[in-house]
Amino acid sequence: MEIKKVMVIGAGQMGGGIAQVCAQAGYDVILNDIQEESFNKGLAVMTKNLARNVERGRMSEDDKEAVLNRITMSLDLSDAKNADIVIEAAVENMEIKRSIFAQLDEIAPAHTILATNTSSLPITEIAAATNRPEKVIGMHFMNPVPVMKLVEIIRGLATADEVYQAVEDMTNALSKVPVEVNDFPGFVANRVLMPMINEAVYTLYEGVATKEAIDEVMKLGMNHPMGPLQLADFIGLDTCLYIMETLHEGFGDSKYRPCPLLRKYVKAGWLGKKSGRGFYEYN
Ligand code: CAA
Repeated sequence: MEIKKVMVIGAGQMGGGIAQVCAQAGYDVILNDIQEESFNKGLAVMTKNLARNVERGRMSEDDKEAVLNRITMSLDLSDAKNADIVIEAAVENMEIKRSIFAQLDEIAPAHTILATNTSSLPITEIAAATNRPEKVIGMHFMNPVPVMKLVEIIRGLATADEVYQAVEDMTNALSKVPVEVNDFPGFVANRVLMPMINEAVYTLYEGVATKEAIDEVMKLGMNHPMGPLQLADFIGLDTCLYIMETLHEGFGDSKYRPCPLLRKYVKAGWLGKKSGRGFYEYN
């Protein structure tokens, strides 16, 4: 199963980062979004990231141009007819993902692997929207994609071994580290990370300490690069709440109940860095 051409769906923070690392590793990339404006924004972020690599002497100007030239814009899912793998990084909504996968299944050649970058939605349920569940797999990159080494590779119930192997090989080719995980709510990354973030929000909610103190304890005490509340702002409080709800619903266990303060912030539109305000304020 040789992968040469990659289609990435969604040119946002995650999709743009995935497209960048694929193009840097020499893959031809079709970057798809429903809006040209989103593609242009994604491209601007990639150009800035690559320019930083040139400044730091990690790549030449020619290499930067070659990477950008490997990325082509797509506004039409039917471009999946040319892809060996599609990595979907659209919004975290099961209905939307199932609809995208059902369309991709119609369009893409029989050999094409359909991967999703979902952070917590069941791979098996997404796969069931297609007639090729053995070719559907989770490929969960971490944010910021160009910096973070991990890719959680999630096997759905029907994922074939050769598909897993091809995705593991591709992850290595991206200079990332693959870790194999089975399909249960939150996989490993978010099953462990989000309850920690949620507990930090409870700690703030109950007045145990200030937000700064909570973050300082975890940064200095546990050597985390960011405190949990700062990290929650960075990920997006709506995403954190959505993942907690997925864990709560998926396991039916009250230990995953989202903190009321997290709900309140999301209802207020305080979504973290992207909205200018979360636990902290951003310019
Ligand atoms: N895109 C590209 N590169 C970035 C970047 C971004 N958004 N943010 C930082 N970088 C690069 C910087 O350019 C810098 O590179 P060089 O100096 O080598 O050129 C390097 O990363 C370090 O950045 P800084 O010095 O500015 O800041 P830092 O040392 O604090 O590192 C960080 C920034 C890497 C984001 C670090 O704070 C960190 O590791 N934070 C935790 C990130 C994390 O936990 N991510 C997982 C989130 S959970 C997730 O993604 C899964 C999910 O489903 C929710």
